[in-house]
Amino acid sequence: MKPIRKAVFPVAGLGTRFLPATKAIPKEMLPVVDRPLIQYAVDEAREAGIEQMIFVTGRGKSAIEDHFDIAFELEKTMSERGKDLSVLEPTRLGPGNCAYVRQQEPLGLGHAIWCARDIVGEEPFAIFLPDEFMHGTPGCMKQMVDAYTQVGGNLISVLEIPHEQVSSYGVITPGAQDGALTEVRGLVEKPKVEDAPSNLIVSGRYILQPEVMRVLQRQEKGAGGEIQLTDAMAEMIGSQAFHAVTFDGARYDCGSKAGYIQANLAVALERPDIADEVRAFAIDLLK
Ligand code: UTP
Repeated sequence: MKPIRKAVFPVAGLGTRFLPATKAIPKEMLPVVDRPLIQYAVDEAREAGIEQMIFVTGRGKSAIEDHFDIAFELEKTMSERGKDLSVLEPTRLGPGNCAYVRQQEPLGLGHAIWCARDIVGEEPFAIFLPDEFMHGTPGCMKQMVDAYTQVGGNLISVLEIPHEQVSSYGVITPGAQDGALTEVRGLVEKPKVEDAPSNLIVSGRYILQPEVMRVLQRQEKGAGGEIQLTDAMAEMIGSQAFHAVTFDGARYDCGSKAGYIQANLAVALERPDIADEVRAFAIDLLK
């Protein structure tokens, strides 16, 4: 079984739900407390043993490249003033550890992944949607890589939501269940509530075999006129092993305003330097 060495971060979306904040900065650079969303996703990938980060970017996303580069003037000035540079350590991605590819038009998540095909090559790879903030120990991708070493094939992370909300998400048809692992028998993107096969939704982390690129190559459009990753994955079910992992942790949809505020509050209440102050303020505010 080939190890998971590469991760694709599709960050070329328009982020329209977060305008005007995301007019000039990418949604993935919005901070949860003091780290941008994209940093949490990269840290989660590293924890899972992934070595190469592949960013699928678009116009207006250069802040992501700057974030993972050396900030020469900043670092020089900080050193001269005797300031601690260790806070910048996780932001360093050397040339061998990252690659950037452009998606020229936002034709959908499936198309964004396909843009990375030459860098991914013929090996299984991980996908992270950085606006889905997965918070837990071990991280979501580490839990998935551990499951991958048992069952191989393709894996997606899933979570249960109220049935009436399923039409905004990719939904699985579940098969046999074994602990946190569920066999995936089918997948559908944004079904009508009455047609949804379950209330288990795909939640932003994937381990896929390279064959998915050949399905995406056909550029077939699905829900919303976009090239959907869910449709390409659905085609692979039956010819390859396909499992869902129920993440043991919390998930915040940071592409939505309420989810983003919740993530900030949850993380702030865990940070020793600010937790007491934030808790006292929140209690006071809710009175
Ligand atoms: P979203 O559905 O969250 O879309 O994309 P979005 O454009 O980012 O945000 P809204 O809905 O307009 O507010 C899910 C993921 O797929 C990426 C996004 O960057 C996000 O990580 N994506 C989506 C692309 O990279 N390219 C696309 O064409 C579409």
